[in-house]
Amino acid sequence: MKPKTKSGGFGQSAKLGLPIVFCICSLFFFAGFFGSWLLNNDIPVASGRPRSRILASVAVEEPEFQAVSNGETGESSATSISSQILSWKPLAIYFPGFASPKQCEKIIEMTKENLEPSTLALRSGETTENTKGIRTSSGTFISSSDDQTGTLGLIEQKIAKVTSIPASHGEAFNVLRYEIGQRYMSHYDAFHATEYGPQKSQRVASFLLYLSDVEEGGETMFPYENGLNMDDAYDPKKCVGLKVKPRQGDGLLFYSLYPNGTIDPLSLHGSCPVIKGEKWVATKWIRDEVFY
Ligand SMILES: *[C@@H]1O[C@H](CO)[C@@H](O)[C@H](O)[C@H]1NC(C)=O
Repeated sequence: MKPKTKSGGFGQSAKLGLPIVFCICSLFFFAGFFGSWLLNNDIPVASGRPRSRILASVAVEEPEFQAVSNGETGESSATSISSQILSWKPLAIYFPGFASPKQCEKIIEMTKENLEPSTLALRSGETTENTKGIRTSSGTFISSSDDQTGTLGLIEQKIAKVTSIPASHGEAFNVLRYEIGQRYMSHYDAFHATEYGPQKSQRVASFLLYLSDVEEGGETMFPYENGLNMDDAYDPKKCVGLKVKPRQGDGLLFYSLYPNGTIDPLSLHGSCPVIKGEKWVATKWIRDEVFY
């Protein structure tokens, strides 16, 4: 009985099966045909998401940029340096992993014996005494030519690359240490001619390389970011606005001047007091002319 039933059953399903198989095949055929037509005709998809996902996966698989022939002063290879625009107002750009932890430790090591209380460029009427408390860090200046290990030279070249301003426009590195409670009240790096008198050259941009993590506090702040806090009398001690937490090896670049050369009022910035730990930073000020 069993075999008979089976063969009879088989016969029956085979009779029904053929049309079903035909239907399924046609379905797949038309689905495939319609699908390829959709792709070929770039039909915009309602949410836009599926297409952007396709584009994203293509971008990831894109081969590295192949270097083209370079000029005498150029470079023969192509590199990429990660960056994030933190703000357009003021223009502030972040570079994660700009230097290695080893490079950072080396810079601390070579400067820590020479630290002295940081000083200020004084405006008329200002004295060391009446500006006490504005900048309480310790620091020292060191140029790349003073560093036999070549670490500062490499970092200087990398800064020149990301700013597209030659290294000769940079002042010596100012390596700073902020201990608990130490700060730099909000200020401008550029010199207002009316306040500081005529200058040989002007500071265009500042590059901060964080040499250490800071457990708590010590953020670089831009209190006027996007026009915030500008209306009422802002207290330069106050840590408000855009705050950047120091992370060892990361870089922060911001511009004090607009492209037309006038000072960006939003470039006001400061260093919040360190609450826990210690903050080490190497600062490079970049001028609009070769700096001697
Ligand atoms: C310079 O550029 C800024 C920003 O675009 C603008 O607000 C300012 O008016 C310009 N100043 C001059 C003198 O052109």
